[in-house]
Amino acid sequence: MTSDTASAALDGGPDKGPRHVAIIMDGNGRWAQSRGRPRLFGHHAGAKRVREVVESCPDLGIEYLTIFAFSTENWKRTQVEVAGLMSLFRRYIAKEMKALAERDVRVRFIGDRVRLDAKLRKLMDQLEEVTANNRGTNLTIALNYGSRDEVARATKRLARDVAEGRLDPDDVDEETLPKYLDTRVLPDPDLVIRTSGEARISNFLLWQSAYAEYEFIDTLWPDFTGTELARLCTKYGSRDRRFGGVKA
Ligand code: FPP
Repeated sequence: MTSDTASAALDGGPDKGPRHVAIIMDGNGRWAQSRGRPRLFGHHAGAKRVREVVESCPDLGIEYLTIFAFSTENWKRTQVEVAGLMSLFRRYIAKEMKALAERDVRVRFIGDRVRLDAKLRKLMDQLEEVTANNRGTNLTIALNYGSRDEVARATKRLARDVAEGRLDPDDVDEETLPKYLDTRVLPDPDLVIRTSGEARISNFLLWQSAYAEYEFIDTLWPDFTGTELARLCTKYGSRDRRFGGVKA
């Protein structure tokens, strides 16, 4: 918790919208199936919603938007669906690169890139590079991301620093691990939204969301709009965040 969030907590919680919103974009498959279409049709419709949501951020005061695009567990899906999703990510990046760069969006990816194909990795690097100097919305795309995997990778790096004498185990506290996480440059999420009526976190930002507010909504991701995001941000503004303390 930063000193800003600590003082917000002492004041009795936020009186404005969330600075960092993280979204589990769920329900593409059901959206497609209810229309008698293949699951990938839903993923394509879902990808189209991303642009509207990103564009609504500046007006809502959202500085950081993190979206869950593909989890470390999603490889269990059929080969057709996985290949279709990977192709969709490549096309999305190539197609949106110019617009994201021009709209002052800074894009980052989190997750383990090792298992992703070389062409996709190259596009991800390129998108991060061309948007690196942007100062508007910080869009983070979680791709081959899983919180447990992230913590395991972070722990490996931390252990290496201890073994090689760069870190004293006595100095390890709860400020240390976040510096090794993929999200090290991001503030913790204030609001985590999951669409499609499922009320679970599915290995998303577990460490980072320790004190986040949650919204589980019934809307399927391809039906989610900037207007619905605005409603959830307003609702967030009335929440009483205490971070384990008591109201002043
Ligand atoms: C979960 O819905 C969604 C995914 C696993 C993929 C998310 C991908 C997108 C929204 C599209 C592309 C994103 C970017 C950044 C281009 P599900 O398939 O589990 O739906 P279901 O629960 O109804 O089956």
